[in-house]
Amino acid sequence: MESILQTAKNLLLPALRKGGTAADFTMGNGHDTLWFSQNLPGGTVWAFDIQPAALEATRRLLTENGAGENVRLILDSHSNLDRYIDGELDAGMFNLGYLPWADKSVTTKQETTLVAVEKALSRLKVGGVLVIVVYSGHEEGRLEGEALQARLSRLDHKKWDVLLHRLIHVPTCPYILAAERRK
Ligand SMILES: C[S@@+](CC[C@H](N)C(=O)[O-])C[C@H]1O[C@@H](n2cnc3c(N)ncnc32)[C@H](O)[C@@H]1O
Repeated sequence: MESILQTAKNLLLPALRKGGTAADFTMGNGHDTLWFSQNLPGGTVWAFDIQPAALEATRRLLTENGAGENVRLILDSHSNLDRYIDGELDAGMFNLGYLPWADKSVTTKQETTLVAVEKALSRLKVGGVLVIVVYSGHEEGRLEGEALQARLSRLDHKKWDVLLHRLIHVPTCPYILAAERRK
């Protein structure tokens, strides 16, 4: 089976259009930002993180790969996304939790994640996709995932398709929640 991050990208790919707009709401070391940058030629990629080290790492990764002209790096919480993004989004990704090998106390938190997800959903174009990778192996991540599932399962099925993709025999494995605004 493909990795959870590969599945996340396969869900996002059909929503990406030349010249479109996407957001990486948890930049971290920049791997997802780089992927968006390479798959959105002529478009705009917004990338958010609250850690200056994440912006430095991402800037370096983009430069090393000759990418990033279409990327806007933002040092702020994704819950403030509306201060920066003023149009609609084709796609967005939250890769929740904390950076591996870094300070584990700097993790996404359900209060701010829920605000950001609500704002991101309200910005999605028809046919747009929001993918959230949840890390339920730590307590904050487990609670965050439960809160997100409760919220997303209340979306109107006439307007949204909502998916849960998880290994049901390994409850601590990361899993995907995705919402597509129906055409
Ligand atoms: C699992 S890492 C992301 C991995 C990243 N996408 C990559 O490709 O390396 C989660 C990131 O979310 C960031 N984060 C935590 N709270 C945040 C917030 N409120 N707004 C934006 N980013 C946040 C952390 O600083 C951390 O870098």
